[in-house]
Amino acid sequence: MKVLIFNGSPRKGNTLTAIRAIEKGIESRPDAADIEITRIDAEGKNIVPCKACNACGSMSRCIFADDSPEINEAVEAADVIVFATPVYWWGVTAQLKLVIDKFYSRASKLGKGKKVGTVVIGGAELNDPEYDVIQKQFECIAGFLGWEMAFEKSISASGPKDLAGDQDTLAELEALGAGL
Ligand SMILES: Cc1cc2nc3c(=O)[nH]c(=O)nc-3n(C[C@H](O)[C@H](O)[C@H](O)COP(=O)(O)O)c2cc1C
Repeated sequence: MKVLIFNGSPRKGNTLTAIRAIEKGIESRPDAADIEITRIDAEGKNIVPCKACNACGSMSRCIFADDSPEINEAVEAADVIVFATPVYWWGVTAQLKLVIDKFYSRASKLGKGKKVGTVVIGGAELNDPEYDVIQKQFECIAGFLGWEMAFEKSISASGPKDLAGDQDTLAELEALGAGL
């Protein structure tokens, strides 16, 4: 099984902590030796924003030279995809959105039937509508691409070390990883 984890945060904070807990859960599985985990940090990737030129329609890749072809290859190869992102202005981070927009250049070839997990982390309390808005966005993306939601986890954490001190949530994340 190939698990691809997207990290939408530019800093070493809560999102990375959540990802490490999920990875720990995956690594605790009896079949862990057969599981390959790849993490892509959206920050630092060279992604030209989609220009809607539609040149990709005939090439199945972006006409502009950037990192999107290799990212889309990793998506194509994955059986499970985890999107982990902080909330920025009631949405996913711009870094992650750049990556997702480029799915457009290979949408019909990415492959159906993948399992998707999402982790959305904001400073606001969990009753803020931002969590539902973003989780719904992931559900729509998965639905469009023929993928199935495996889990949707929303977390309230603000300072970069907040989640690291929340043992209950870390245990939940480990269980989600183990259950993928
Ligand atoms: C530019 C920016 C915008 C943000 N917008 C929101 C927001 O709309 N809602 C929210 O709850 N938190 C918002 N936050 C707080 C982050 O989501 C929160 O600190 C989160 O834990 C960051 O995750 P990280 O530690 O993985 O980077 C924002 C933070 C930044 C830097």
